[in-house]
Amino acid sequence: MKPQDVTEHPGEHAIFIIFGLTDYTRTRGPVRELLGALPALVRSLKNRCPDCGISCVMGFGAQAWAGLFPEQPVPRELHEFQEIKGEKHTAVATPGDLFFHLRAKKMDAIIELASYISSDLGDSVRVIDETHGFRYQDSRAIIGFVDGTENPADEALEFAAIGREDPDFTGGSYAMTQKYLHDMEAWQKLPVEEQEKVIGRRKFTDRELTDEEKPGNAHNAVTNIKGPEGRELKIVRANIAFASPAKGEYGTYFIGYAGTFSTTRKMLENMFIGDPPGNSDRLLEYSRAVSGALFFIPSARLLENLAGD
Ligand code: HEM
Repeated sequence: MKPQDVTEHPGEHAIFIIFGLTDYTRTRGPVRELLGALPALVRSLKNRCPDCGISCVMGFGAQAWAGLFPEQPVPRELHEFQEIKGEKHTAVATPGDLFFHLRAKKMDAIIELASYISSDLGDSVRVIDETHGFRYQDSRAIIGFVDGTENPADEALEFAAIGREDPDFTGGSYAMTQKYLHDMEAWQKLPVEEQEKVIGRRKFTDRELTDEEKPGNAHNAVTNIKGPEGRELKIVRANIAFASPAKGEYGTYFIGYAGTFSTTRKMLENMFIGDPPGNSDRLLEYSRAVSGALFFIPSARLLENLAGD
């Protein structure tokens, strides 16, 4: 089953929209109509701007899935994201029913698509969050480090898409989203060598610190996890920077696509609680999660089928 565009690069620009639904019965019609129209909307934009690299991923929160498509089985790992509370840091859980991740080289193309989506859904939804992200310098997080280096390349789909273990949903994916705000003042006061120990890589060259140099609470140490046979477990990240300089807000929109949510969940537990507990991610001393929601991303085919069910 062909997945949606979950393995695309983060893009020059991105918009993330999370909608809430109040009445599933009332929303079913507009959602199905949008599902029917979406492939052609994206195709049209691709035709009109072949170099824009436009892509659209759509997903559903657990309650929305059950409420909108009661006749469908439920993906194995789909549930409402449960808060993760460590000694010092908390990965908050916030509401979310419908999710859109739009990417393109040109912001106007994304805005056009987002405006069709919003007008098609009309007042059957309420906006929970809309974040506009941008590529910062040479693909760096707003804290100045290159972000995305250890993303899987050739095996991206293998890690990002559900396999045959959940046959009704093969080609689907789980998207975990979190908005982080950075304490830029404290971060900028930290000498570069210390920042490098927080991330686990060199700031300018992006080279990884050696095992001897890298502390156990570095971000890339706690998120490096292994499966039962010692195989590295990965997710496909498409983080992007966002900012509102006038408000003094500088952030990272984290999005991780995975074929198994338990992989992302384990990374989050390592970051917020620590393994062993207490060894939490030092990056969290400079970054606060202000949202957190899990969405199921159906395969492209299933998404089209849902329109006609
Ligand atoms: C404040 C938000 C975050 C920022 C600014 C951030 C930034 C970074 C940076 C700069 C790297 C090193 C380069 C790279 O390999 O991409 C990295 C690596 C990584 N991050 Fe994050 N990240 C954030 C949140 C998260 C979250 C929430 C997760 C997982 C749930 C995560 C998972 C990973 C993984 C798996 C790696 C690669 C580790 C390895 O080297 O094996 N990150 N991140």
